[in-house]
This record gives sequence, C-alpha cells and structure tokens, in this order.
Amino acid sequence: MAETADYSVADHLRDGRTIKIRALCPDDRADMLAAIARTSMQSLQRRFFAPKKGFSESEMAFFLDIDFESHVALVAQIDEAGRPAIVGGGRYIVVQPGRAEIAFVVIDAYQGQGIGTILMRHLAILARHAGLKELIAEVLPENNAMLKLFKKFGFKTTSQSSSQVTHLVLRLP
Ligand SMILES: CC(C)(COP(=O)(O)OP(=O)(O)OC[C@H]1O[C@@H](n2cnc3c(N)ncnc32)[C@H](O)[C@@H]1OP(=O)(O)O)[C@@H](O)C(=O)NCCC(=O)NCCS
Repeated sequence: MAETADYSVADHLRDGRTIKIRALCPDDRADMLAAIARTSMQSLQRRFFAPKKGFSESEMAFFLDIDFESHVALVAQIDEAGRPAIVGGGRYIVVQPGRAEIAFVVIDAYQGQGIGTILMRHLAILARHAGLKELIAEVLPENNAMLKLFKKFGFKTTSQSSSQVTHLVLRLP
C-alpha cells in the first residue's frame, strides 16, 4: 500500500524527546545492522526465540523486502549527535487473510522509554487501516515488558499450546 510505504510521523518519548516513526526502506540495511549490533543477546533471543549472533543474507533480504501489504515494517529513528539512528522496529506479517503476527525489538539502551508502545500504536493504526481483523503474537512467558505492553493495548492471552510460549490475540474493531 503506497501510503503505508511512505508512513512517517513524529512522536515523543516519555521524556519528551522527539522520535520519528517511519516505514522501513531498503536503504536501511546498514542502519538496521548497526541497531542489531547494539542489541543484547537476551533481547534478540526474546525477539527471535533463538540465540542470534548474526543474520544470513536470506534473513536480511526477508526483513528488508517489505511490500507494505502482507508485510509491514516500521522503524523508530532518533537523532544521536546530529545523526539519525534506528533504535527500534516493529512489524506485522499477514499469516492468514485478516490476521497478522506482530513483533518488536528496541535496542537495550532505549528500552523502557516508550518506543515499544509508540511502535505498537502506529502498527495498530496501519493494521486497522488495512482492514485486518486480528493481530496475534507469541511471547516468551518471562518477557514481562512485552506482555505488559500487549495487555495495555487489549491483547488477550489465548491457549498456550506449549508452556514455552504465550500466545496473544487482539481483535481489531
Ligand atoms: C518488549 C520491548 C519491545 C518493549 O519496548 P520498550 O520500548 O522497552 O517498551 P515501553 O518503554 O513502551 O514499555 C512498555 C511497558 O513495559 C514496561 N516494562 C518495561 N520494561 C519492563 C520490565 N523489565 N519488566 C516489566 N515491565 C517492563 C513499561 O513500564 C511499560 O509499561 P507502562 O506503559 O505501563 O509503564 C523491548 O523491551 C524489547 O525490545 N525487548 C526485547 C525484544 C522482545 O522482547 N521482543 C518481543 C518479541 S514479540
């Protein structure tokens, strides 16, 4: 969707600093890799459910090849000493008609400042705009920050098919 591919808005962290939320673009590859390098193993494990030291070419191609219909990705960009840096990202991937899976990662130094909440808010706007009916997520049960964030937006825990992962769903009005 062209509008979504051009999405770019200013928002504010809890301390009032401005952050830009915008659509991920293919040119973001280097900045995305820089952000991954600044993210702890624990955070990457919570995002990808496996220890991640790096990403293969095909994984990077998948993360950057966004059609903004079946796969929508936003980044959070902040000014660091006069240079824009990507400090977080969120995406949803349509897994069935009307239903998409959503996930986020914020680099550790910026966690707890509201970026996850902001990304969720903007992805929910885009999901509703696209006519999606449901957002789903899988979260490690010990991931209190992610669970708290999803519950704040009205996600409900559904059946836990395994004790290792908590499944959540948000029905979009
Ligand atoms: C989960 C994550 C995306 C949240 O992003 P964030 O920018 O830190 O989130 P926010 O600052 O918007 O905080 C969200 C809520 O979690 C709470 N929170 C933050 N850290 C917490 C912690 N360690 N324990 C419990 N709650 C926590 C915040 O207080 C906030 O709740 P509030 O709005 O009621 O105050 C981020 O911590 C992260 O990237 N974690 C690693 C990757 C990951 O877990 N991804 C999830 C895969 S689905």
